[in-house]
Parts: sequence; structure tokens; C-alpha cells
Amino acid sequence: MNTDLFEIIRTTRSMRRLKPDPVPPALIRQILEAGTSAPNGGNMQTWRFLVIRDPAIKAAVAQSYRRAWHEIVGPRYRSSAPAPGSSREQFERMLAAAEHLADHLHEAPVWIVPCLEGGIHTRTSGSSIYPAVQNMLLAARALGLGATLTTLYLLFEKEAEAALGLPDGTHSYAILPIGYPLGKFGPVGRTALEDVVFSDRWGEKWPEA
Ligand SMILES: Cc1cc2nc3c(=O)[nH]c(=O)nc-3n(C[C@H](O)[C@H](O)[C@H](O)COP(=O)(O)O)c2cc1C
Repeated sequence: MNTDLFEIIRTTRSMRRLKPDPVPPALIRQILEAGTSAPNGGNMQTWRFLVIRDPAIKAAVAQSYRRAWHEIVGPRYRSSAPAPGSSREQFERMLAAAEHLADHLHEAPVWIVPCLEGGIHTRTSGSSIYPAVQNMLLAARALGLGATLTTLYLLFEKEAEAALGLPDGTHSYAILPIGYPLGKFGPVGRTALEDVVFSDRWGEKWPEA
């Protein structure tokens, strides 16, 4: 297990190619405990985490994901400019990995589906679940497990959440497919701080860059 927090943060990339090997329940428990350690509004903890291993449920939900990728998201990315700081080649590699995930999502040995129960589902409510999601991604990385924050199935939210069997008033905020990675962990690629940090006033250079 890697316990250097900053090293883990720097190397928690989306790991979209996963081995089908089972993940020990004790590791999933550690990931879930990291999730429920996250901040959340008023500590109301209206979060619920659906752990899915059932192949039939994964197969049904993955249909929405695949459709969203092949019909909408994939074509949109393919005709757009590469992500900031990425060459065309790097961007194409990312798209190939994303397509692989779209076609193999159901084969990931375990999914965690973070949900919120009740309330109004807005950007504010999302703030009470995404810190838990990031904690779980970091915990998975620390344990040598690969994962990806995915949301594109939400383009077909109704059918996906019906296949997930969520009760009325409960909504999912992501699907995290988790498994042992086929590739190696490596540093994330991001633009330099000086391009995204301002000092005091919007647009003003940050002197420490
Ligand atoms: C809100 C959100 C939604 C995302 N949805 C998806 C998704 O549906 N499918 C996917 O393959 N990656 C998804 N990602 C992963 C991003 O594409 C990824 O974080 C980004 O390309 C940076 O790559 P890295 O995580 O490998 O550093 C999502 C990330 C975020 C934050």
C-alpha cells in the first residue's frame, strides 16, 4: 500500500483498462470507509453507496453507458480539439481508453455507485457526494486498484437508474468501476498553475507561479 498522500494525489489517473480478477471485500470496505470520511453538508450523510458485483445488473446499466459513448460523447470528443496541454496523439490515446471502458464497463469486477437519498438534486447536493467520490478514488489508488469517475451514463439517467434499481427520490452521481489495473499508474497531465491561478483579481498573474 502506498501511503504518501501527495504521491497518491499526483498519480490518481483514470484507470480505464481493468483486469477481471476479483477485488477482496476488505479492500472495498477500506475504500468505502474513505468515502464516508469525506465532508458533507451538515454531516447529514444522506449518501448511500451501492456496491455492485452482480453481472446482470452491470450488463443492464452498461447498455446506457455504451449508448451514451457511441452515440453522443465519443463522436463529440473525436470532432473536438484535444484537452488543454494534450497533443492530438495523447488525446487519441485517452479516447481509445475511454472507448475501451465503454465496451468493457460490465467486466469491471466491482462498481461503487455513490448516491444521495432525498432532497433536491442540484449542484449544491453534488457538493455533498463528490468529496466522498474523490476520497474513494484516492483510496483505491493507494491500495493499488484502478478506478474512473464516470458520469456519461447519466445522459440516459432514467433507464440507467431503473436498471440500478434506485428507489424514488434517490439518484446516482457516478459509477466507479474498480479493479486491478492492466496498465501502470502514472502522473496526471494538467496545465501549469500559472495558467489557472489568479492573484486577488480575476486575470491577474499569481506572483508565486
Ligand atoms: C465529473 C466527471 C465525469 C467524468 N465522466 C467520465 C466518464 O463518464 N467516462 C470516462 O471515461 N471518464 C470520465 N471522467 C474522467 C475524466 O475524463 C478524466 O478525469 C480526465 O480526462 C483527466 O484524466 P485523468 O483522470 O486520467 O487524469 C470524468 C471525470 C469527471 C470529473
